[in-house]
Amino acid sequence: MSEQFGHLINRAYDEVKKYKELVLSDPYRLSYHLMPSVGFLNDPNGLIQYKGFYHVFYQWNPFGTMHGSKFWGHFSSPDLVHWQEEPIALAPTEWYDKDGCYSGSAVCDDGHLYLIYTGNVKGENGERETYQCLAVSTDGVNFEKKGPILRVPEGYTAHFRDPKVWKHEGQWYMILGAQNLEEKGSAVLFTSPDLYQWEMIGGIAGAGINGLEELGYMWECPDLFPLNDQHILLISPQSLIKNGEMAQELFQSGYFNGEFLYETHQFKHGPFKLLDYGFDFYAPQTFKDIHGRTILFGWMGITNEIEQLQPTIPNKWLHALTMPRELQWRNGRIFQRPLEELQLLRNNEVLYKDIQMKQQAIQFEGIQGTSAELFIEFSPRECHDFQIDLRHEARLTYDDQTKEVTLYRRNIDNSGEQSRKCKIEGLSNLHFFMDESSIEIFINDGSEVMTARYFPKPEDHCITFEGDATFNITKWDLLQHK
Ligand code: FRU
Repeated sequence: MSEQFGHLINRAYDEVKKYKELVLSDPYRLSYHLMPSVGFLNDPNGLIQYKGFYHVFYQWNPFGTMHGSKFWGHFSSPDLVHWQEEPIALAPTEWYDKDGCYSGSAVCDDGHLYLIYTGNVKGENGERETYQCLAVSTDGVNFEKKGPILRVPEGYTAHFRDPKVWKHEGQWYMILGAQNLEEKGSAVLFTSPDLYQWEMIGGIAGAGINGLEELGYMWECPDLFPLNDQHILLISPQSLIKNGEMAQELFQSGYFNGEFLYETHQFKHGPFKLLDYGFDFYAPQTFKDIHGRTILFGWMGITNEIEQLQPTIPNKWLHALTMPRELQWRNGRIFQRPLEELQLLRNNEVLYKDIQMKQQAIQFEGIQGTSAELFIEFSPRECHDFQIDLRHEARLTYDDQTKEVTLYRRNIDNSGEQSRKCKIEGLSNLHFFMDESSIEIFINDGSEVMTARYFPKPEDHCITFEGDATFNITKWDLLQHK
């Protein structure tokens, strides 16, 4: 590494030091979610359990609260609840990644931890080059870059990135997000005997492969993995056509389920389904832990026109990751479940049983807070309509006539209220995870999820219930590093 580039890493650490107190002083700082120590965070990368620790890497620009030349930041944890910030894992220091060590994944082989990521290079006239690159570590903390292992094949533009690698029956596989020459998105598969020599298999889904010409101009962050008897292909297509429930944002993450045949490399799958119906969810990635659980983290953020208006920006940070969620396949869909270990954060349980509500707006003694878990269980067929207001800033409503759940929040540009909707088949339970400036709502055991950032007045802890329903409520404060 040249002196100039060593200098780049020191500048990143200087930035962390310089703004540490400011970031710590922010009332919107999250208490149990992973967030950057300074600057801009986006995708979760390289999720893995290695030598007894969980590792979460993330896309990071330490030099500002906007996209930029990305580093890989790094957290580790013994239990997915208590996290430690590790030294910078990758910095954009080489000719093949000088404009960003973009997203990718991690695998373990022969006791070594490998990171496979996209090196992003921009030429003087803005033209882009892309290299898939390898880095290796023997301690899970210090990484040695091995350089490019794959270049863009014919038939694709330089929007070719975000390698997710796994092993199947002794062979390595890599799936990449791609854009074809007609500027449409797809997912492309490669194979290797040793992580260094890669051979292209071809596209397995997307434009020019199996239709799907309308599903975005680029597919980011693909992830192909088994879940019970299904194969799931997660993708984050860029620029969906906004069409009601299917796509309420231009960029949205979702999945196909079906069967992937390793013999023929064919992926037979059903329609694209959204993974999250909230405002702020993108670029998720999964990994399997030693207990065999498939665990997902997403970016609790999204690129859109209001991103740069968030009130954390004056305090020099932007965005966070979602909480870890366990994925399960049931009733023809992915269920997302709050990871069991998060119960370690619970304190001060408050329980109300058999509340029979008839329209009045009510607050319950002990049910309030800024960083709290709330489990609401409805009596069967006793939820006619229901509404919960969180800190006068967000509201979730359920209408049993239309079977719609709607999440409202004050628009971040103060222009009124925004809403997101999903349809369900009747409400049996709602599970809220509130953090200082975020909410994750698991509907009906996680059959639908809504994720959002919101920015209530810090001193407002008020939670209000209204509706025609019978239910139990349990609330816990969730305490971490505050
Ligand atoms: C998704 C994404 C990836 C890319 C990374 C760059 O949010 O655009 O496709 O690798 O972010 O930070």
